[in-house]
This record gives sequence, structure tokens and C-alpha cells, in this order.
Amino acid sequence: MDCSRKRHLILHLLVFLLLNNSLLLTCRAWVRHTFVIEETPYTRLCSTKKILTVNGQFPGPTLHVHRGDTLIVDVYNKAKHNITIHWHGVRQPRNPWSDGPAYITQCPIQPGGMFSYEIIFSKEEGTLWWHAHTDWNRITVHGAIAIYPKHGTAYPFPKPVAEQVLILGEWWKRDVMQVLRQALRTGGQPNISDAFTINGQPGDLFPCSKPGTFKLPVEQGKTYLLRIVNAAMNDNLFFAIAQHKLTVVGRDASYNKPLTRDYILISPGQTIDALLEANQPQNQYYIAARAYSSGQGVNFDNTTTTAFLQYSGSGNYAATSPPYSLPFLPFYNDTNAAVGFTNALRSLANEEHPIDVPLTVDTRIIATISANTFRCPYNSCQGTNGTRLAARMNNISFVNPPIDILQAYYYGINGDFGSRFPDKPPFVFNYTAQFLPQSLQTPRRGTEVKFLDYNSAVELVFQGTNLVAGEDHPMHLHGYSFYMVGWGFGNFDKKKDPLRYNLVDPPELNTILVPKNGWSAIRFRADNPGVWFMHCHLERRLTWGMNAVFIVKDGEQEEARLLPPPPGLPPC
Ligand code: C2O
Repeated sequence: MDCSRKRHLILHLLVFLLLNNSLLLTCRAWVRHTFVIEETPYTRLCSTKKILTVNGQFPGPTLHVHRGDTLIVDVYNKAKHNITIHWHGVRQPRNPWSDGPAYITQCPIQPGGMFSYEIIFSKEEGTLWWHAHTDWNRITVHGAIAIYPKHGTAYPFPKPVAEQVLILGEWWKRDVMQVLRQALRTGGQPNISDAFTINGQPGDLFPCSKPGTFKLPVEQGKTYLLRIVNAAMNDNLFFAIAQHKLTVVGRDASYNKPLTRDYILISPGQTIDALLEANQPQNQYYIAARAYSSGQGVNFDNTTTTAFLQYSGSGNYAATSPPYSLPFLPFYNDTNAAVGFTNALRSLANEEHPIDVPLTVDTRIIATISANTFRCPYNSCQGTNGTRLAARMNNISFVNPPIDILQAYYYGINGDFGSRFPDKPPFVFNYTAQFLPQSLQTPRRGTEVKFLDYNSAVELVFQGTNLVAGEDHPMHLHGYSFYMVGWGFGNFDKKKDPLRYNLVDPPELNTILVPKNGWSAIRFRADNPGVWFMHCHLERRLTWGMNAVFIVKDGEQEEARLLPPPPGLPPC
């Protein structure tokens, strides 16, 4: 029996012996955690509401692991909502069973139920995060994962004196499930949030929020590692610290060549490891973030969230100093500032941290990603011109199946999903033209997957369109990280653009921001068998169907096959 499954069984049988690692000499290090999902009252922006939390905490607990570890997390659902947890960016080799997206790899854990997730880390190193993957529950059910180098190996940069997790989030005064339900009922845009947050706090620019403002303590002359996560639902964020630079050394748990900037851009789903040198006079400095939103006519939260960088010894006069200045942040729709940062990343590509980007390709897929609309009777919906807003990939607006796709695939249950996700856009048009005929807006609904052969080299080009409203899309793939080999504005040219690909040191990522009215090309080797979700990490787009699923077939060898299902999978 496979090592990780064997461990799972041992875990269930011999709980009391589990602290004794010698039992599992042939397996990797592992630790067990308990996550209790429950409703907890929290007060923000002068009002109190109940939110879903893990162990009462918001943001949730940070998990600490070393590269190659395996974790078991027992999730107990003591709330009134169905829930699952996704370990964003963890490849989970051969183990989609514990990946988490509801109706893709599991049925949700129902109120009163529990499920033990087995989280298998392999080559990830840096920062990732976990979050709920049901409806919009991830708004408050999320936390960071800090992945340290293996014992006996080191960071590819001087060891920082300390580290700090900074989770950027979003807060609605209303119950977020109501916001979602209302948007689904009316067909219009969901209500925008009331604030962004840093470690759960809106910051001192908001009413009733000053005392709670998050403070990051530093000592002059020292260097800190910031593990920054964008857990916001619907917004890309510019982030900066007044009078300090950030040196980005990792993204999505993969190291990159140090990139020093005054501000960074981070999209929902992404994680950034950045070094901060406390090299300024002892004082208190603003940390701030606000939206980058490029879609014309798309509502967004235009507030600014703040925290403080606080030098030790600055306490006394900081309290009496005049207001500090906010750091420079690019304007909300500054696309050049956004792509100027995201596309400057280069992976280390050295001996200790090599890359293995496929140089030739077996399967080529071009997928349009667009907003679109469905007609409503008497134009009675609240989307553009009385329509219902939706989203799609290659013209299919994804619909969740009744039972999860992984189970249907594994047990050969027919009729749950189709296998006809197209390799190219079904209609060819000038995707990024300024004016596009209304007739192109209506997609079809469906649950179509794309099968990939084990170990095939895949190239996937995301082509943005200007339908309804051209926008940037943070596209995320489960079960893999991939290399971003190219990008551009306008329409992808399959003859010319590949000639400009970066196959030398492309960044290795799990979530990329496809530029507004542009395209991005990624490559990966399909060496992780299983069912893997791919979607836009703007929650409203996911809800509207900008999703697809890959099924990577088993290979010949035992190590190239899907693990058997774990015990205790929740029923649908
Ligand atoms: Cu953070 Cu489906 O992902």
C-alpha cells in the first residue's frame, strides 16, 4: 500500500501513538491539527456580526511546515453552512481527494460532519495559504501556510531576523452570504465591500478601527521576511510601506530573482514573500493597500486599508507625531503599473533551484476568458441592459455537477460531466476589439472537463476579451504550479508570440493575472494525476462560471496513479 495511504490508516487506528514518529520511519514527517468551523461574533466598522471562523480566529491560524512534510488537518463543521477547505497552491501529488473545491474533488462537509484532510507538500517552499472552497465562505475562513526550507538547507537569501504574515482581506458589514444570494437573485454585480483589511483590521482611516489597527514591530537595522497573502474576494491590491522598499524573493511558494520595488501588486490567490529592511529613522510608518480595478463600469471598493510599521523605541513620540503620510500607491486603473510589476518576475533558475519548463509541447489549449450575459425575461435582471451577468471559458459557463467530478471519474459514474472542453475558442473574433456585437455575449452552460495524458507537456494560453467589460483575471490552477512563459496585450498570435517566450527563467506560479484585453501563456507537465480545478480567483467570476476542470489520466507505474480514496469522504 502507498506510504501516504498507509499513514492515513495508521492515523485512524492508532491515534494515541501518533506522536511517536518512529512508527512511520519510511514516511515523511507529519503533524496533526484540528480546525473547528464555527460562527463567532466579530466587531468591525462599529458593528458586530457573526462570521465563520476556524477555531474562533479571524484570520485563521497559520500552519508552519517544512518542505516535503505531510499534514493531517481534521476539519469539524460546527456551523450551519456546508464547508470544504482548499490548500491553495499545494500540489497534493496524486491526492486530489484532499484538495477541497466543493463538487469538483469532494462533496462538502455538512453541518455536524467532519473530514480529515491529508496535505502532502512536495516542492513548495515559501508561503501558501488555505481557504474555504464553498460559496463565498472563504471571506473569513482562511489562513497562511509558512513553508520553511528542509532541515539542513537554507533560504536563497540572508536569513531574516524574524517574519510576519500579512493577510490582505475584505470586509462587508452585511452577512456575505446575503450579498452573494442577492447578486444571484438580481443577476447584477454583488455589493462592494465596506473595507479591505490587513490581518483582519481595516485600519485607522475607518470609524471605530483605530485601536485595532495592525502594528508590525521592527528594530532598526534588521531585515524581516513578510509573507503576504491576498485573501480578498474580488480585488487585486496595490500594497506599499511608506519610505521603505520591498524586495520580492518568492511568489506562490517558489523563489524568484530578488525584485526591489516601492509597491507591489498582489491578486486574489497570490502569495508574495518579500524582504523588508528596517533602514529608516525610528518612527511609525504607514503600511497601506488599495484596489487595482481595470474594468470600465465595474464597481469596486475604492477604500484604503492601513497598518503601521512601528520601530522599537518610536513608541513615545509616535503617539504624539502628526499624521504620517501614506505610501505612494498607483491609481486604481493603472494597468501599466500592474503589469510592470507582475511581469518583471523571473525565477531563480540556478543549480539549487532549477526550473523544468517544457521546451516542446504535446497539448496546446487556447481558452478565452470573458464576462458575458444571459437574457432575462423582460430585461428584468440587474446586469448590463437588464441581463444576468455571467462568465465563461471558451464559451462555457461552468455549472457545478450534482456529485463531485473526482468521485464520478474514479467510480465511472456517467452523466455527471462531459469531456468536451474545447481546445480553442469556438468562435473566432477580434477578442479585444473596442466594440463587439451583443450576439457574442451569450455562452452555453455546462460541466465539461479536458482530459490530459499523464506526463504530457501542456501549453495553455488564456485570452482575455473585451466582452461586457475587459478586465484583468487572476487565473488559478489546482494541483500544479506552472511557468508563465509569455504575455501581451491584444490578441495572441500563435505564430509570432511564442518566439518571444521566456523559456530561460520564467516564474513558477499557481495564480497569474491575465492582463486586461491581453493574454498570458503558461506551460506545465501534466505529471500529477487527478481532477484539478482551474478558475478565476475573483470570487464573483468563479460564481459566474469562469471555471474549467482538467482530468490528468493515470500513468503506467504505480507512482503515476491516483491514490485510492481516503476513508470518511463526506456524502453529497
Ligand atoms: Cu484559492 Cu480554487 O482556489
